[in-house]
Amino acid sequence: MFTDSSFTFVLFGGTGDLSMRKILPALYEAHRAGMLAEGGKIVGVARHAEDRAGYIEWVNAHVKPYVSKNGLDETAWASFLERIQYVKLDLGKPEDFALLRDAVSELPGIRVFYLATGPSLFVPICHALAAVGLNTNSRIVLEKPLGYDLKSSNAINDAVGEIFAEEQIYRIDHYLGKEPVQNLLALRFGNALFEPLWRREWVESIQITIAEELGVEARGDFYDNTGALRDMVQNHLLQLLSIVAMEPPHSMDSDSVRDEKLRVLRALKPIDPRDIGKVAVRGQYHAGGIRGTSVPAYATEPGVKANTNTETFVALKVEIENWRWAGVPFFLRTGKRLADRVAEIVVNFRAVPHSALGPTALRPGANRLVIRLQPNETIRLYCLAKQPGEGMNLASVHLDLAFDQFFREGQMEAYQRLLLDVINGRLALFVRRDEQEAAWRWVEPILNEWAAANKPPKPYAAGTWGPAASSAMLAQHGTCWLEEEN
Ligand code: BG6
Repeated sequence: MFTDSSFTFVLFGGTGDLSMRKILPALYEAHRAGMLAEGGKIVGVARHAEDRAGYIEWVNAHVKPYVSKNGLDETAWASFLERIQYVKLDLGKPEDFALLRDAVSELPGIRVFYLATGPSLFVPICHALAAVGLNTNSRIVLEKPLGYDLKSSNAINDAVGEIFAEEQIYRIDHYLGKEPVQNLLALRFGNALFEPLWRREWVESIQITIAEELGVEARGDFYDNTGALRDMVQNHLLQLLSIVAMEPPHSMDSDSVRDEKLRVLRALKPIDPRDIGKVAVRGQYHAGGIRGTSVPAYATEPGVKANTNTETFVALKVEIENWRWAGVPFFLRTGKRLADRVAEIVVNFRAVPHSALGPTALRPGANRLVIRLQPNETIRLYCLAKQPGEGMNLASVHLDLAFDQFFREGQMEAYQRLLLDVINGRLALFVRRDEQEAAWRWVEPILNEWAAANKPPKPYAAGTWGPAASSAMLAQHGTCWLEEEN
C-alpha cells in the first residue's frame, strides 16, 4: 500500500493530544515502512511553537516517546522530521490563513487538511480555507465528535458541505481502521460457510461489547458533556453493528460498502420512549478496584461536575427491521472502568431443533462464534464434541484462529491505515454523511428521553461489568453476557 502520488498533509491542532499520540506516530510508521511518497510533506499548524525549529523540538519531545515504544529507527526518524514544516497560525484569525496559503502553494500533490481540533472550529477553518482558495485539489478530514446531536452534526455537515464536496470529506471513525474490523468483512464475504447461517433462522442473538479498563483520563471536561452514548455508541458501536448485519455488497468500492451499512442503520427499530427502561441501561462508575489498584469514582475525576448525571456505561437491546434480522436481539454494550479491556462480537447460533444426543446438546456455550477485535485478535468457533469415554456426553470445545500466529508481520495501526487511505483517496473506511445522520437519528430519542427523565445513571463499582440491570436485560431474553457464562 504505497501512496501513488505526492501530498501535502496539513495538520490543524498540530500540537494537540491526538497529533502527539496518534497522527504523527502513524505518519512516522508509514514513512518508516516506505509507504509515503518521497516528496510528501507534513505541515503542522498550531499557535504554541514560534517557528519550525520550535515545532520540531516539540515533536521530538512529545511524539518521539510514543514512536519509541515500538523501537525507534533513528535514521527513519531523522528523515521523517525532514518532511515536517510548520505554520504558526491563530485559528481565530481568518486573515492568518494567507500564511498557510503561501506556505503550501509551492508544495506538491493533493492537499489533505486534517482537523484534529475541537468541532467548534471545523466550520470556521473550512471558511477560512475557502477564503484563501485552499478548498480545491484537497481533502478534509474531520475527527469525532462531529456534533453533539443530529442538529449540530447537520449544521457542521451543511457548512462543510458548502465548501467541500462529499467526496472530499473524510469523517474518521478509527474503529473502521482496525485490522480486525477489516477482517470481519473478509470473514463474512470471503467464506461461503457463514453466509447461509448469518440470519434470523440460525442466529438467536448477537452481542457487541467494547469494554475499557481506562477511566476518562484527562478528558473529564469533554466527557462529562458527552457521555458513553455519544462517545462510543453513536459511532463505533453502530458502525460495528452495521458491518456485522449488512448485506453482502456487490463490490468493496466505497459507496457499495457504505450503501449497505446505511441500509442497516436506517432499518434500526426506533426506540419507543415508553420502552426505554427495558431496552437501555445507563450506568456510572463509582470507586472500585481494577486488577488490584483502587480507582476513584467518576464524579470525582478532574473536570467532572460533582453532581454529574453523565453515563459512563451503556447497554442496549437493538433490533433490525428487515428480513434477515427481524426478531433477533442485538445487545450492545460499552463502558469505562469495566473489569477488562475487550472488544468482541459474539454470534449465538440457535441450538439444534431436536437433540437425539440428550439434553447437553441443547446447552448454551456451543454453536457460537466469538470474534475478538482487541486485545489479541482471534476468531473462535464453539462446537459440541463428545467427551472421551463411555456414553455420549457432550462438552463445549472450540476451533481457534489466532491472527498473530498466521500473520506474524504487516499489522497496521488504525490511524496509519486511515491516513494512507486519505492520502490515496480511498473513502470506504470513512463515514458518509447519510450514515452519520442515520446514526444520530436513531440515537437521539434515547438521549432526549434520558435528558427529560434527568435521573442519575445506575451505579456500578469500577472493575465490574456494569450495573446489574445490564445482566437483567439479557436475562429477560433467556441469555447472558458471554463472561457471565464462564
Ligand atoms: C474514542 C473515545 O473514540 O475511542 C474514547 O472517545 C475511547 O473515550 C476510545 O477511549 C477507545 O478506542 P480504542 O481504540 O482504545 O478501543
